[in-house]
Amino acid sequence: MAKIIKTILITGATSGIGKATLKLLASKGHKIVFTYNKRLSEAKKLEKNLRKNNEHIYSYKIDLEKHNEIKKLFSFAVKKLKTIDCLINNAAFFVQRKKFQYLDLDHVKKIMNINYFSVFLLCQLFVKASKSNREKKKWNSIINISSTAAKFGGVNFTHYAPSKAALENLTIGLSRELAEKKIRVLNVAPGVIDTRKDKNKRILKKVISEIPNNRLGKAEDVANLLDFLIDDKSEYINGTTLTISGGR
Ligand SMILES: NC(=O)c1ccc[n+]([C@@H]2O[C@H](COP(=O)([O-])OP(=O)(O)OC[C@H]3O[C@@H](n4cnc5c(N)ncnc54)[C@H](OP(=O)(O)O)[C@@H]3O)[C@@H](O)[C@H]2O)c1
Repeated sequence: MAKIIKTILITGATSGIGKATLKLLASKGHKIVFTYNKRLSEAKKLEKNLRKNNEHIYSYKIDLEKHNEIKKLFSFAVKKLKTIDCLINNAAFFVQRKKFQYLDLDHVKKIMNINYFSVFLLCQLFVKASKSNREKKKWNSIINISSTAAKFGGVNFTHYAPSKAALENLTIGLSRELAEKKIRVLNVAPGVIDTRKDKNKRILKKVISEIPNNRLGKAEDVANLLDFLIDDKSEYINGTTLTISGGR
């Protein structure tokens, strides 16, 4: 059977989960536009290396807080990929924990602007550009990345967790609305994934002791799930959050 090549737009692929996903999907021959913000040299290195085996890999710099630039990103992706089968909303502004009474509203708005409103706008452009309807053979998909913090909140995390809870809610409503266009909308909620360098060993030990699988998640664990979700094999999964947290 012929291999199905997807066209994919993924945000925030210069680090962690996004980077692992980009590498995996590129190795499978999918055509990809990926975004970066500050890590220019990492983005260019990835693009150069991945293009050795897959010429259809394109990087694009964007600060997703700047909403008026999102249209340009989307136009770039359409120009390179012609149509976009799959949108993976991975980029997020990760923040240090802080007590609620010290949170600054402008900072909270910045988090919402990057983690939620940019996703909202990208989804809107994706839907507007989508010619898909029930007659189409294959489903397109939007995959959002939230966090287990969306469900459980998080101590000193009340600035970040709601931005992720908003994504989970958007996923449910949008999936119902977009099924008639043959667009699936999914959400992945990672637990603690080993993507950060600033680790406090004592806290880490405690966190691991609370994870039934007895280890932190790897970016590759999440990439494997995303690889499955963009595939037509997962076509009947829609409008739901898949948690990937080692059982925590
Ligand atoms: N790691 C975890 O434990 C964990 C747990 C739960 C959920 N998640 C979620 O999983 C996703 C990936 O997390 P991660 O840990 O892999 O992230 P990460 O390593 O911190 O990477 C974040 C990515 O987002 C991009 N980005 C950050 N701010 C941006 C902005 N203003 N505009 C555009 N791009 C921006 C970064 O680009 P540059 O580096 O080029 O600036 C980078 O590529 C996020 O949605 C995160 O909330 C992570």
